[in-house]
Amino acid sequence: MLSFREHVRERLEELKAASLLRDPLLSEAQGSTHVVVGGKRLLNFASNDYLGFSQDSGIRKALEEAAKQWGGAASSRLLSGTLLPHRKAESLLAAFVGHEDARLFSSGYAANLGAISALVGPGDALFSDALNHASIIDGCRLSRAKVLVYRHKDMGHLEELLAENRQSFRAALIVSDGVFSMDGDIAPLSELRRLADRYEAGLLIDEAHALGVLGPEGRGLCASLGVQADVITGMLGKAFGLAGGFVASDAMTIRLIENRARSYVFSTALHPALALAAIHALEQLRQAEEARKRLREFRSLVWSALPPPLQARIQAHPHVPIVPIVIGEVQKTLRFAKALNEEGIFAPAIRPPTVPEGSARIRISLSAAHDPKEIEWASQILRKKCVELI
Ligand SMILES: Cc1ncc(COP(=O)(O)O)c(C=O)c1O
Repeated sequence: MLSFREHVRERLEELKAASLLRDPLLSEAQGSTHVVVGGKRLLNFASNDYLGFSQDSGIRKALEEAAKQWGGAASSRLLSGTLLPHRKAESLLAAFVGHEDARLFSSGYAANLGAISALVGPGDALFSDALNHASIIDGCRLSRAKVLVYRHKDMGHLEELLAENRQSFRAALIVSDGVFSMDGDIAPLSELRRLADRYEAGLLIDEAHALGVLGPEGRGLCASLGVQADVITGMLGKAFGLAGGFVASDAMTIRLIENRARSYVFSTALHPALALAAIHALEQLRQAEEARKRLREFRSLVWSALPPPLQARIQAHPHVPIVPIVIGEVQKTLRFAKALNEEGIFAPAIRPPTVPEGSARIRISLSAAHDPKEIEWASQILRKKCVELI
C-alpha cells in the first residue's frame, strides 16, 4: 500500500526518468510571433495563431467591447447561459462551414469530447485514425462505443475493419482529424466519405488546424476538397486567435448533441465576449487571402531548409503551416530544442504521449504575423542545426 503523496511522487519520478516531465515556458509578454523568457525575446514557433489574430487590434477591441457589454457567462447553456451572441455566432459559423446549425463549446477539446460521446454509445462503433488528437480519443473513450483504430490514413485497413465489424453494431461513426497537428498532413477525405457511405456510417472531421488556413475563404479542409462531412468540429483557439470550440452539422444532429453532450450540458457557456469576438474574427478570417498566401510562402521556406532525409520522414501538406522535424529519440530532440533556444528560436520538443513512442520531434508552427526576414533567418539556423545535430 502507498500513501497518496508517495503515489504522486512516484508518478512524477517515472515521468522524470522518461524525460517526459514538462515545465511550461512562462512568457513575460504576449505575442504569437515572439515569447519573452527571462528578458530574452525568442522567435515563437509554438503557437497555433496562424493568421496572427490573437494580437490583432480589431479583434482585441471587439473582445474588450463585448466583455464590457455582456460581462460573464454565469450559467450553462441549457439553463440561462444561452445569449444572443452565442446564437448569432453559431448561425454564422454553421453557414461558414456549410452546415445547418452549430453549437459553441468552451474549448475545442470539449467540442470533440461532447460531440463524439453524444452521437454514439454502447452497442455502436467508432472507427478512429491512429493519430487522432487526444480530444477525439477521449471522446471515443467517454462514449463507451466499441472503438476500432485504423492505421494512420490507411484506407485499406479502415475498409477491412468496416467489412469485418460494421454489421455487429447499430450505428457507426468514422472520426478523423482533418489536418493532423503533429504531422501537418491531411486526412484522405474523399475516401473516408466513400467508406462512410458504403458502410452506412457517419463522418466527423476535426477542422481545428484547417479553418482559416485551407479552402476558399479559409472554410477548411472539407470545403477545400469538396467533401461534406456529417459533423465537423472547429476551434476558435487556432486561426481565430481566441479560445473556444464549436460543432456544426444538420439541425437534427445538433439537437441531439445539444441534449447529450456532457461537456456542453454540464459546463458554463462559452464567455459571450468570445462569441462576439468570434463573429468579428470570422469576417476578418474570410478576407485573409494575403495572410494565407504568406503562410504558404513561409512554410515553403522552412520546408526547403530541411535536409531531404528529414523531409522524407513525414508527408506534410504544402499548404499546412506546420513543419515537423521528426528526430525520434527524446533526449536528442530535447538537445535540438535547447540548441534552437540558444539561437533565439522557441520550438519545443514534442514528446510522447503527444506523439507516438520513438517519434519525438520539433514542431514548427508558423504565423502569417511572422516577419519574412525572421523566417529566412530561422530557416538558415534550422538547416545548420539539422546538419550538426541529427
Ligand atoms: C486537432 C485538434 N483538435 C482539438 C484540439 C483542442 O482544441 P482546444 O485547444 O480549443 O481545446 C486541438 C488543439 O489543442 C487540436 O490540435
